[in-house]
Amino acid sequence: MTSTVEPMPVPMRHGFLHSDDDALRTKGYPEWDRLRDETPVFESDYRTPGSPQPLWYFLDYDDVYNILRDTGLYSSEGFTHPDYESEYMMIPSEFDPPKHTKYRTQLNPFFSPNRVAQLEPTIRSVCRGLIEELAPLGRADVIDDFALRFPTSVFMGMLGVPVDDLETLISWVHQSQHTSHADDPDGRIRDAADRAIHEFMGVIAEDRKAHPGDDIVSNLLTCRIDGRPFNDGELGGILYLLFLAGLDTVASMLGWTFMHFAQNPTDRQRIVEDPSLSSSAVEELLRYYSIVSMTRHATRDVEMRGCPIKKGDRVIAPLAPANRDSTAFPDATEFRIDRTPNRHIAFGAGPHRCVGSHLARLELKVAIEEWHRLIPDYAITPDADLGLRVGMFVTSLQHVPLRWETGTVPASTGG
Ligand code: HEM
Repeated sequence: MTSTVEPMPVPMRHGFLHSDDDALRTKGYPEWDRLRDETPVFESDYRTPGSPQPLWYFLDYDDVYNILRDTGLYSSEGFTHPDYESEYMMIPSEFDPPKHTKYRTQLNPFFSPNRVAQLEPTIRSVCRGLIEELAPLGRADVIDDFALRFPTSVFMGMLGVPVDDLETLISWVHQSQHTSHADDPDGRIRDAADRAIHEFMGVIAEDRKAHPGDDIVSNLLTCRIDGRPFNDGELGGILYLLFLAGLDTVASMLGWTFMHFAQNPTDRQRIVEDPSLSSSAVEELLRYYSIVSMTRHATRDVEMRGCPIKKGDRVIAPLAPANRDSTAFPDATEFRIDRTPNRHIAFGAGPHRCVGSHLARLELKVAIEEWHRLIPDYAITPDADLGLRVGMFVTSLQHVPLRWETGTVPASTGG
């Protein structure tokens, strides 16, 4: 007698969208672990009028890695605003190779390890200045008082504009990236913020055409695509992406970083006693608290891990469960400050891998070193609500209120 083995049906999670999920919002990363261990691959019947296509989730490291690398099968076109209609493009994020490659090749040199290393003295001095203002106060909300201000100030420096109106820029990033679908169903608030960012960048671009300098906008004006300069739309799309991708992500990682060190005094003490651990700490923070989830769509019918994916279906590849997958990392749900090797994919994988990874790493490392030099001992304010927010793209905390004894703050060494 022969028996035929029926393929296991792919599990369905009814109405699941990670950015709307209560359990993820309340339990955070352990909930991603539970979902991955229970159903590493699943379908969701969540639909919105703007996104009626079937939705597939892949949570294992290998699957996420393979999806991100296969840009021929899993396309990024049109998916930078996955849940509302927007006239604004993010370049080169929403292009697939070979078109993507042309733009990406132009951007890479401005964010190379050497170029970024040259920025270190400026980045360190901006960071130190912000922490020196906070240290005597004995308390701060890391998010509002530091995490948003630091990368925004660095980026303003790279644009070559004075840091006059930090609060306005921060509020645009907030409205563009953190307004929920429920609060803004037709995307009007997000669209207004995106327009304001474009107008701001447009004014700088016009100025640099007339008065070039040694800033990122002037440098972008020297780039060539098929022998011609970027047109205004392309330049706007690139600056818009750099602005959002560079600020929101670093700010979010800083929130997780200081929450971790506040809640884990042994790790904090190790950093205070041996700041050379900061580089491996950054990698482990990026792995353990991976913040980004990617959306792609299938360019043709394909079966992957038993899923009958059809052309146009959406595929979601969240990095958090992938980077905490025990088949890829020993003791994956344990935080090891000196973990090596650490082949996390917190910056993505394949052609779209983060162009700003060297800058991000430097900003995080400098923040850890400078903060712990000036404020080595601190705790989260009791009963604080950290306001975990799971976005379609970035997961972040809204508040990390810390307090410390001002008597413990060492005097600045200057320089
Ligand atoms: C800790 C901070 C950061 C994290 C975790 C992060 C993560 C990522 C990830 C996962 C991607 C891939 C997206 C995809 O595959 O669709 C990406 C792309 C990108 N990131 Fe970052 N990023 C960070 C900081 C930055 C910074 C500081 C900049 C620049 C100033 C930047 C600029 C970009 C750009 C332009 C892309 C698009 C690249 C492309 O499509 O070719 N990011 N980032």
